[in-house]
Amino acid sequence: MGRLEKILVNSSMHARGNIKTLEKLFAAVTPEGVGIFLEIGCGAGAVAAWLNEKCGMSGAGTDVDPDQIAEAKKLHGDDGGPRFIEADATDLPFENGEFDMALIMNVLHHIGGWEKALEETERVLKPGGLFYLCDFVLSPAVASVARRLTKKYAVYTPEELADFCGIGFEPVYSEKPSGALLKNFRAVFRKKAWNKSHEGPARGVQVPLDFVQSTRNMS
Ligand SMILES: C[S@@+](CC[C@H](N)C(=O)[O-])C[C@H]1O[C@@H](n2cnc3c(N)ncnc32)[C@H](O)[C@@H]1O
Repeated sequence: MGRLEKILVNSSMHARGNIKTLEKLFAAVTPEGVGIFLEIGCGAGAVAAWLNEKCGMSGAGTDVDPDQIAEAKKLHGDDGGPRFIEADATDLPFENGEFDMALIMNVLHHIGGWEKALEETERVLKPGGLFYLCDFVLSPAVASVARRLTKKYAVYTPEELADFCGIGFEPVYSEKPSGALLKNFRAVFRKKAWNKSHEGPARGVQVPLDFVQSTRNMS
């Protein structure tokens, strides 16, 4: 991330926005029975700290940027708080099924290998674990232009994201996407219970039609 983007995403205003978004998602899908969470791409750690302090969960925040992890530890790294760990989302340093809940907020579009990041998310979640995903998607027409213009950011359409998530997750909830060029994609998934180990996820599992259609309406 550039310096300016980092200042913006580390601001208290951005943190409040993220927490508001999560409160809304939690109202739609209550994270019942969640003890241990993982926030991937936690930045300066505000959401992880909120989950710990206000929701009574313990867990970890990871980020690939050592400066972000240092900032998170400085701001929220007291004893008893979340652990903050430097890690790439595409290669998480956790065992299979360690977490009850995973969150990725505004991160996936930064990751060229976003599919691998989603596979890793699914791997470290318990079967039945919840996955809250908030990010940007592009309509197919805009995505085809964006793919030619950027190698830096991951580009995906709602269909691609929903289809890929459908490999290891069941869709639980999705919001009608908002925004013009960059659309907000907010959804909650549940890791499929049958996928007990991570020895080759079954590809091509069908996503329920209503979910795909609700995302297709975005384009
Ligand atoms: C736009 S910020 C969002 C931070 C936080 N989730 C939020 O919403 O405030 C994107 C974050 O993703 C992190 N990031 C980028 N690529 C990553 C990767 N491959 N693995 C883990 N984190 C990554 C960046 O370092 C940055 O902190």
